[in-house]
Amino acid sequence: MGTPVIELRGVTTIYEGERIPAIHEIDLVVERGEFLALIGPNGVGKTTLLETINGLLDHKAGAVRLFGLDVRREGHRLRRRIGYIPQAVSFPELTPFLVRDVVLMARFGRIGLIHRPRAADYRAVERALELVGSAALARRPIGKLSGGQQQKVMLARAMAKEPELLLLDEPFSNLDFVAREEIASTIVRLHEELGLTTLIVLHDLKGLPPCCQRVVLMRAGRIFRDGCPDEVLDPLILAAAYQ
Ligand SMILES: Nc1ncnc2c1ncn2[C@@H]1O[C@H](COP(=O)(O)OP(=O)(O)O)[C@@H](O)[C@H]1O
Ligand SMILES: [Mg+2]
Repeated sequence: MGTPVIELRGVTTIYEGERIPAIHEIDLVVERGEFLALIGPNGVGKTTLLETINGLLDHKAGAVRLFGLDVRREGHRLRRRIGYIPQAVSFPELTPFLVRDVVLMARFGRIGLIHRPRAADYRAVERALELVGSAALARRPIGKLSGGQQQKVMLARAMAKEPELLLLDEPFSNLDFVAREEIASTIVRLHEELGLTTLIVLHDLKGLPPCCQRVVLMRAGRIFRDGCPDEVLDPLILAAAYQ
């Protein structure tokens, strides 16, 4: 199987000032090429788990390894290999950035803040916008776009890092059916064409793409079920988790 892309062993994360862990003793191994959906009701710890995986939140116990490396020691370098779409990003109408600026921000991990972007960075931005079918939006102000267009730009921003791992936190929230289907099919196409490993948090199970072979269901900060969609999406199991 090779080295797993994600490997969590007994991982517990507690927010500062809190006593109860937001996620508790999580064991999770994701192999290269997997497309995994993370589901569960609001507040069970899905976002916390994603941010613990990419090292934006420090864990209190256990071990987080990505590509075989400890995220605590190698976080900065590892995050360059991860395309992350945070939950509920939306840009106010007057945000003073063009679409291509927003996508270029993804390159700062490589460029460093004090250096200027190079031709390769601008090319990566162009390529990423083309990958998601949004090249025509490059010079539009980000705040003037629809929710679906903004979400595609976020996907382009994630792709501009030329990532191996995609972490997507509810990328379909606040989108209508058409926009959701379009972004879902773009994500699936990128996953397959580029051989990515993809972990997607879904709030609404209608967004589950057919290529998704594994569903992890959380309840109260723990993994409640981890298996193929047929097993995990059983009405009785869902009722127990979403009660
Ligand atoms: N910054 C924070 N400080 C303290 N508690 C938080 C913070 N963010 C989230 N939580 C709590 O941690 C738990 C898990 O939240 P979250 O990971 O956002 O859940 P989900 O993404 O599944 O809705 C919830 O009880 C939430 O209230
Ligand atoms: Mg969340």
